[in-house]
Amino acid sequence: MRAPMRWAHEERDCVLPMIIGLGTDLCDIARVTEMLKRFPGRFEARLFTDQEQARAERRKNARAARYAQMFAAKEACSKALGTGFRKGVFWRDIEVVHLPSGKPTMELYGGALRRMQDLTPSGMQAQVEVSLTDESGLANAVVMIFAVSASA
Ligand SMILES: CC(C)(COP(=O)(O)OP(=O)(O)OC[C@H]1O[C@@H](n2cnc3c(N)ncnc32)[C@H](O)[C@@H]1OP(=O)(O)O)[C@@H](O)C(=O)NCCC(=O)NCCS
Repeated sequence: MRAPMRWAHEERDCVLPMIIGLGTDLCDIARVTEMLKRFPGRFEARLFTDQEQARAERRKNARAARYAQMFAAKEACSKALGTGFRKGVFWRDIEVVHLPSGKPTMELYGGALRRMQDLTPSGMQAQVEVSLTDESGLANAVVMIFAVSASA
C-alpha cells in the first residue's frame, strides 16, 4: 500500500486521514420479517451479537427494521473490508453499537478486525464510520474505513 500523504501544519507534521475501505448495502425489511418468522431465535443468534439483539428487541414495532439496518451495516462493512463474508470474516465479528446520542458506530472482532488491521498502513490506526437509514421498506447502510495517524 502507498505511504500516506503528509503536510506541514504549524510546527508538526500531520498525516492526512486515508480512506482504506468503502461499502454500501440495501436490505429488504420484509425479507428480514420473514426470516424472523421462519427461524425464530436462530436468525438473530447466528448473525447478531447479544447487545445488538437486546437493542432490536427493545422496540417491538421497529424490530425487523432494526435487524434489517444492522444486517445492511454488516454487509456494507464486509464490502468495505473487501472480503464479503469470506476469508474468516463472520457476521458476529462486526457489531453495530449505538452511542447514547443515537449515532451508530461499529466494533470489529476476530477475522474482521484482523482484515482491517491488514489494510491499515503501519504507524496508523483504523477508524470506522457508519450511517444507517430506512424508508419505503428498505434499510440502507454506508460504511467507510479510514486510517488516521496512530499518534492523533
Ligand atoms: C460481498 C457480499 C456481502 C455481497 O452481498 P450480496 O447481498 O450477495 O450482494 P449485493 O447486491 O449487496 O452486493 C453485490 C456487490 O458487492 C460487490 N462485491 C462483491 N464482492 C465484494 C468484495 N469481496 N468486497 C467488496 N465488494 C464486493 C460487487 O459490486 C457486487 O456486485 P456484483 O454482484 O454485481 O458484482 C457477499 O459476497 C457475501 O459475502 N454475502 C454473504 C451473504 C450471506 O451469507 N447471506 C446469508 C444471509 S442469512
